[in-house]
Amino acid sequence: MSTFKKSQIVGIIGPAGFGGSYLCVELIRRGHSVIGLSRNPESFGTCPGYTPRKLDLEAASIGDLANYFRDIEVLVSQYGPHTQGADALRYMPYVEVVRKLILAVKLANIKYFVFVGGAGSLVVPGTHESLSDHPNFFYAYRRQMAESDSHVRYMEERLGPIGDALRSYRNARLAERSGQATAADLELIRTYEDNIRKNDRASEYIKAGRASLLFFEGNTSFSWTFVSPSPLYRPGPRTGTYEIAIDYVPLKGVQEGEDILDGRLTGISAADLAVAIVDEIESPKLRHKHWTASADLSDDTVYPSYVTAKDI
Ligand SMILES: NC(=O)c1ccc[n+]([C@@H]2O[C@H](COP(=O)([O-])OP(=O)(O)OC[C@H]3O[C@@H](n4cnc5c(N)ncnc54)[C@H](OP(=O)(O)O)[C@@H]3O)[C@@H](O)[C@H]2O)c1
Repeated sequence: MSTFKKSQIVGIIGPAGFGGSYLCVELIRRGHSVIGLSRNPESFGTCPGYTPRKLDLEAASIGDLANYFRDIEVLVSQYGPHTQGADALRYMPYVEVVRKLILAVKLANIKYFVFVGGAGSLVVPGTHESLSDHPNFFYAYRRQMAESDSHVRYMEERLGPIGDALRSYRNARLAERSGQATAADLELIRTYEDNIRKNDRASEYIKAGRASLLFFEGNTSFSWTFVSPSPLYRPGPRTGTYEIAIDYVPLKGVQEGEDILDGRLTGISAADLAVAIVDEIESPKLRHKHWTASADLSDDTVYPSYVTAKDI
């Protein structure tokens, strides 16, 4: 497999978003030129090596998109709805935007398209089921998120009511653990867990990420790699160390209860996922693969959800 030259022109869709902003910082620090594509790409800030290019993915035609991508060597999609809040977590327009992106990537002859999707498409070991379809996924996911103050802060900052509900759930569980829980705390825990098991508010959107993988799998008509961040993806330190897994969700420890997922989900910081993506851009090893990266998240220091050119 070929290795690209060291310094490249990398287009990032969503340069000021969560994953996209950390990726811009990592790429620019490592000497690449970044073209940031989104409706407000200037929100990333100004610095040498960064060029904003305004683009609305929903309004643009496939031909328009190919034109926006004309001089880009590697294109990374960090497109997502989170900056518009909890009500934007929908199946559409995500799936439709991904379809258009792929057609435009082919038209523009992009050398490598790195698509950042979600953990929901990772397969549960020992099954043929993706995480988003596993009956206990959302329960295990929210329960483990609630263990981390920094994860809850990140959810509060980005997703208003989803983050607020998670904070109340965390507080009630901390009270329960210390033997201080009131009847109201215990009721809150029961109601919260019942609700996420029935219909987690993010499930429709997470299933859109899982469905998008089908546009890629088995398709060798363009050069792609599909990255699913491991489930507990959040702001955090840059350790520079990570582990790659293909298709399956990496789980930690051994299964203790009846559920394979409970307490065993892994994660990665946005800074470390950016390291893994830039490593792949500089030396591609995962072409035509669906993969994830996980890393040590034991440091629960609160980091910002979005970084800017000032952080380079
Ligand atoms: N645990 C997990 O598996 C996990 C967790 C989080 C994210 N993810 C995935 O990572 C990917 C990126 O998500 P993210 O949370 O990092 O990003 P994000 O914060 O949701 O934002 C990405 C950017 O997308 C841009 N955007 C939205 N609509 C657009 C449009 N119509 N035209 C042009 N740009 C548009 C926005 O920029 P403008 O406002 O400037 O247009 C925004 O800054 C998604 O696929 C998401 O599902 C996975």
